[in-house]
Amino acid sequence: MTPSSTVILGTGAYAPARVVTNEELSRTVETSDEWIYTRTGIRERRIAGPGEETSDMGVQAARRALADAGVSASEIDLLVVATMTADMPMPAAACLIQHKLGVPTTAACFDVNAACTGFVYALDTACAMLTSGRYKKALVIGAEKLSTVIDWKDRTTCVLFGDGAGAVVVGLSAKPGLGLLGTRLGSMGESTDLLCIPGGGSAAPATPASISAGGHFMKMKGKEVFKLAVRVMDEAARDILEQHGLRADQISLVIPHQANLRIIEAISQYLELPMERFFVNVDRYGNTSAASIPLALDEARRAGRIKPGDVTLLVAFGAGLTYGSALIRW
Ligand code: ACO
Repeated sequence: MTPSSTVILGTGAYAPARVVTNEELSRTVETSDEWIYTRTGIRERRIAGPGEETSDMGVQAARRALADAGVSASEIDLLVVATMTADMPMPAAACLIQHKLGVPTTAACFDVNAACTGFVYALDTACAMLTSGRYKKALVIGAEKLSTVIDWKDRTTCVLFGDGAGAVVVGLSAKPGLGLLGTRLGSMGESTDLLCIPGGGSAAPATPASISAGGHFMKMKGKEVFKLAVRVMDEAARDILEQHGLRADQISLVIPHQANLRIIEAISQYLELPMERFFVNVDRYGNTSAASIPLALDEARRAGRIKPGDVTLLVAFGAGLTYGSALIRW
């Protein structure tokens, strides 16, 4: 066999049991279900329990993806985790997940940090490595415990995010024109200040003063991020469609990053593609960053929204500001 395509063999997702509703948040910060829902489309989010780490959620999602693919952990030779909230700064969450899952010690394991675009970056990386012929089966996971980097007293950010994980198993196929058709990745490094966690890295290591000033919490200029998000997601979607000679109406389902329903609605208008062609679960999970696309992809597949022959468009943006799109034929 001369493998010519990288195909998704299975998907899985995991969300922590604890549901935090908008109403519950309105008891701790000055907000309301009405404000949050009309501005974002979010009704509730999941929050990890004590001792439930990013790697644990990643493991749960990965087990489901492996079972769906009918692949055992011992067959995985490449494990890539997209996350910005790994269990610890070092080692990579991928290594913790490798050990918990029983992935062989001969597998390459590492994390990718492209914030909310992380899964699209990780998928592209894994597929390129598989195409090189040096790896056979990859596990690509997006997992986040954002609840640990959120200032729960800041109503402008705490209402937006949640915890969770999603995973895919990727393999090679001899059939051409299937699986990942292509990606369009990019980054606007001039806009890093719009969305960042300023403390806790090498520029501002954690000190008692930086911690009490909240330097290790996420800071966001929401309005600016919103405008850029709409622009770059629209561009990333158009570029990849053009590269592959496809019209928007040939896409059966768009799986956008789930940050805000209004952003998704704007993309739907710009692409002139009705909202029925967009998968939305932001109402139930909020923004789970790198976990958002694989979580939505798994729900869409299990809901029968993706059929053989369909072309799916993934499109995301995140801190960096990074952005990316991917086309997958099933
Ligand atoms: N409840 C009630 N009022 C609030 C809340 C809240 N939770 N948050 C803000 N407000 C107030 C503001 O203080 C402001 O009051 P003011 O007019 O008296 O100053 C008013 O509501 C309007 O605030 P805006 O920021 O202008 O509201 P906007 O309509 O822009 O919505 C939002 C804010 C939802 C954050 C929006 O800008 C957004 O979604 N931006 C994109 C964010 C995003 O997607 N980030 C994730 C990127 S992905 C990643 O990599 C992590």
